[in-house]
Amino acid sequence: MSGAALSVLAAEAAGCTKCRLAEGRTQVVFGVGNPDADLLFVGEAPGFHEDKQGEPFVGAAGQLLTRMLDETLGLRREDVYICNILKCRPPGNRDPLEDEIEACTPWLVEQISVIQPKVIVTLGNFATKFVLNTQQGITRMRGAAYPWHGRTVIPTFHPAAILRGGGEGSRQFAELREDLELVGATLARLEPERPGPRLPEAEPATETVHALVSDGQLELF
Ligand code: URA
Repeated sequence: MSGAALSVLAAEAAGCTKCRLAEGRTQVVFGVGNPDADLLFVGEAPGFHEDKQGEPFVGAAGQLLTRMLDETLGLRREDVYICNILKCRPPGNRDPLEDEIEACTPWLVEQISVIQPKVIVTLGNFATKFVLNTQQGITRMRGAAYPWHGRTVIPTFHPAAILRGGGEGSRQFAELREDLELVGATLARLEPERPGPRLPEAEPATETVHALVSDGQLELF
């Protein structure tokens, strides 16, 4: 059911011209994975390889993410859903601009509404700031689970930032691993919930986070 709805959405997005990125893209990189996934990863934007192949996280950062998924959670890419804040590649991999985020994120809102993931992992600053509606950087936000519209959001470092930084010997790499372990523990805690009553959501460890979406959008979730 979700698969069909997501395919319709992807077909619609394939022709999107809501922002300037439509002009330079090879193709829209909508998302990949299990349309009924409990776990959704949200990155920043497609890079060179993603733009060519039409699939998110297939370059070096994607290979690191795929390996960490397996090592920390025992999951394959096909078990989760992976997408980005922006569905088209910004020229030269520059940062997303405000108006591009505004134009593109309705697709993400619809994806969340269809997939209904239990846990959302935001990779890096852009995804975290958008989803949790915060100005705090990823270094402050990571390491905690945030309740969000009946789901849990767990921010962590973007794998590309780890590759640009100290790589696998870095503190960030160890913290990415810790965050993914928190994802595993959160999913395990939610698992027995299914037939029985809901357990209380984890409190944010650092601060109160305000939801991004307006009341109107909230109904989508
Ligand atoms: N970085 C991202 O944020 N997304 C991708 O799909 C690839 C690299």
